[in-house]
Amino acid sequence: MKNSDSDQKVKLTDQPLFRIGMIIAIVLVLFIGLQQWFIPKSFGKTGHYRSDNIQEWTEHELQYAAGSDACLTCHSNVKNIFLSGSHEQLNCETCHGPAVKHPNNPMDSKPSIESSREFCGSCHQTLTGRPDTVITQIDLGTHMGFANCSDCHQPHNPGFKFGGAD
Ligand code: HEC
Ligand code: HEC
Ligand code: HEC
Ligand code: HEC
Repeated sequence: MKNSDSDQKVKLTDQPLFRIGMIIAIVLVLFIGLQQWFIPKSFGKTGHYRSDNIQEWTEHELQYAAGSDACLTCHSNVKNIFLSGSHEQLNCETCHGPAVKHPNNPMDSKPSIESSREFCGSCHQTLTGRPDTVITQIDLGTHMGFANCSDCHQPHNPGFKFGGAD
């Protein structure tokens, strides 16, 4: 008669400890392999981040000129009314968009002109969370019908001018 199973020699690959060991080894190799694959080359060179990132940001092209001063040198007619009005604290490019190329090439690269009610409303529309002690607010839906804001307010000096912007 054959004896019970316990007498047979258990193969190495059937040992539970060996199997667990193999699983751990495979997971480790996978982990290290994937880590090599996914971690960017420049990670850790100068700290706990990807150091190429610095270079990449410095390569972005400039979009904005250096404040309103970069515009007022040429636009003296705007300057005359702008600096005495309540929009004086805004940069020209807040409304006219990024325009770094325009001063060197005024005819070919023109800044945008945005004069919709919605655009002015992005700062002046009444909002619950917007303190009207800081910025005067109007209800876009009811304030003076549907006419363009610049029909009545000169955007460069928005204190009301009867008869339209000058
Ligand atoms: C070197 C002089 C110069 C500088 C600096 C300059 N501009 Fe101009 N800009 C011009 C000229 C010239 C025109 C064209 C005028 C025309 O069309 O009659 C113009 C036109 C414009 C227009 C009207 C565009 C259109 O479609 O009619 C806007 C808006 C404008 N500039 C904004 C700016 C802003 C904002 C800046 C600052 C970033 C600026 N400018 C700096 C010379 C300049
Ligand atoms: C609050 C938004 C706003 C700001 C800030 C602003 N603009 Fe304007 N700008 C406008 C609008 C809107 C028009 C179009 C006006 C119209 O349709 O009558 C305009 C028109 C212009 C024009 C063409 C017509 C004109 O009046 O000569 C020039 C040039 C110009 N802006 C330059 C400037 C410069 C330079 C600055 C900064 C000193 C500036 N703007 C700041 C909103 C703005
Ligand atoms: C980037 C935000 C911003 C945008 C866009 C903007 N404004 Fe203003 N506006 C201001 C600030 C800031 C003031 C000064 C504080 C105040 O009086 O509300 C002001 C003031 C005003 C005033 C009060 C003027 C006064 O002297 O009592 C009027 C009217 C006005 N803006 C109209 C406009 C119109 C029209 C446009 C669109 C062409 C516009 N605003 C776009 C920020 C903005
Ligand atoms: C038909 C002319 C007209 C149009 C169009 C118009 N407004 Fe006015 N706005 C006025 C008058 C007049 C006042 C002054 C009313 C008052 O004091 O009650 C005024 C007042 C304001 C004030 C408050 C100024 C203060 O000192 O209290 C703001 C902000 C304003 N307007 C922004 C705008 C904006 C933004 C638009 C475009 C969405 C616009 N307005 C369109 C005529 C106009």
